[in-house]
Amino acid sequence: MKIKNICCIGAGYVGGPTMAVIAQKCPEIDITVVDINEKRIAAWNDENVDNIPIYEPGLSEIVEEARDRNLFFSTDIDAAIDKADMIFISVNTPTKTYGIGKGMAADLKYIELCARQIARVAKDDKIVVEKSTLPVRTAQALKDILDNTGNGVNYQILSNPEFLAEGTAVDDLMDPDRVLIGGDIDTSEGEEAVQALVDIYAHWVPEDRILTTNVWSSELSKLTANAFLAQRVSSINAMSELCEKTGADVNEVSIAVGMDSRIGSKFLKSSVGFGGSCFQKDILNLVYIAKSFGLNEVADYWEQVIIMNDHQKKRFASNIVKTLYNTVSGKKIAFLGWAFKKDTNDTRESAAIYVADYLLNEQAEIVIYDPKVRAEQIYADLDYLNTRTEEENRKQVKVVNSAYEACEEAHAVALLTEWDEFKELDWKKIYESMLKPAFLFDGRRLLERKTKEKIGFEFYAIGS
Ligand code: NAD
Ligand code: UGA
Repeated sequence: MKIKNICCIGAGYVGGPTMAVIAQKCPEIDITVVDINEKRIAAWNDENVDNIPIYEPGLSEIVEEARDRNLFFSTDIDAAIDKADMIFISVNTPTKTYGIGKGMAADLKYIELCARQIARVAKDDKIVVEKSTLPVRTAQALKDILDNTGNGVNYQILSNPEFLAEGTAVDDLMDPDRVLIGGDIDTSEGEEAVQALVDIYAHWVPEDRILTTNVWSSELSKLTANAFLAQRVSSINAMSELCEKTGADVNEVSIAVGMDSRIGSKFLKSSVGFGGSCFQKDILNLVYIAKSFGLNEVADYWEQVIIMNDHQKKRFASNIVKTLYNTVSGKKIAFLGWAFKKDTNDTRESAAIYVADYLLNEQAEIVIYDPKVRAEQIYADLDYLNTRTEEENRKQVKVVNSAYEACEEAHAVALLTEWDEFKELDWKKIYESMLKPAFLFDGRRLLERKTKEKIGFEFYAIGS
């Protein structure tokens, strides 16, 4: 079966870049990315390609090449579903904020809405692809909804989780470690659907890196991969606290441990804590699933990854207060970075938000600079916590346009995101503009201790 028309529901961090790359690699397939968010679709269609809603290195060039050739962005969801042979569901699956499973389970209401919309609109057979990260066995729920409409349409449901990381989305999509496709491989229709998706990726991914499994393995592998990755960060962060007490240096420990080829060197960088929209949400979801099967030891094991991460964020903030003579009330603290990692404008679950909240509770004044995050986003992140009024957030927090401006007359600088440009700053100039003693807290192990201490900083870095 040759796919000619694709519809992707959800024009976010996954749907947008993934479809842009498929469109570039498969010029014979027409792809329409749809979303209920009109502003987001308008931004994807903005004449100036620098205004697309997601910042990812290399993405705007691809969008420029494929847009209006075989890549389209639209709010007409029904039309795109109707036309498509294959429909990717790439909508958000946040942690539930209400009812049963509140604070843990994945909220599948957006997924279900998509399924019901497909069921209502579809007139001919469709392959429906789960691109969103979903609890294991969600495909069964989708199938139940789709198969019970009585309009004679046959659906094949595939699981094709996305493993891209933000900031490197284009590289990850162009050269993935693997592409995972789960389907009903026991039936010939299922096998045919899996092959149709394999054929799309085979345009640019070597076939030995395209892995096919049953649907449940595929769904669960995505949650497992994120849990393992986050667990490595929590493991090294646990060691960072021990390093600070013993004179060991976490970077040295990380190199020594990572050189064991059985362990590997990646994802062992100690930090102020992992952020991003997925690690916490996916582990909480895993914990919830384990508990729902009565697997309490499994649930507790994974929950510890989150407990350690929360501890790391809090520990970084409380160390700032302790070091500044046990009070930051009325003191100006400069934040360098707000995004959850470098090279993205995404701030979801960024450690910076929680460090700021802690310091604001201690009545600090915070001045923030991030090269890619806009002021409205920073205020929205703080308002969302509901810790204080919107007016109070605007009074205590300022957002500025340069690192130098943020640090001027500050009591302390906290480095929260590892943007490359922070390495190149004129740190002597920053030191001179600050109140003395000038404190510098590196939450990312980005800066070199020796040179900063030579300038005169009181320097604190995670894990040393
Ligand atoms: P996102 O919030 O950036 O985008 C989701 C989009 O779906 C939004 O624009 C929203 O308006 C739209 N949407 C929601 N319901 C809709 C509906 N019924 N019809 C049409 N549009 C609808 O989310 P994201 O970061 O792209 O994540 C999507 C999924 O991919 C999640 O399950 C996430 O766990 C997973 N994932 C994310 C990443 C990542 O790096 N962000 C990586 C891998 C997997
Ligand atoms: C992560 C995974 O890496 C992707 O494979 C996955 O597809 C994605 O989640 C998802 O499902 O959403 P992402 O969250 O975009 O990608 O970014 P990561 O590079 O994984 O970083 C996550 C957080 O961990 C960041 O805050 C980062 O600074 C932190 N981190 C990462 C560390 O503190 N130390 C490390 O060694 C690595």
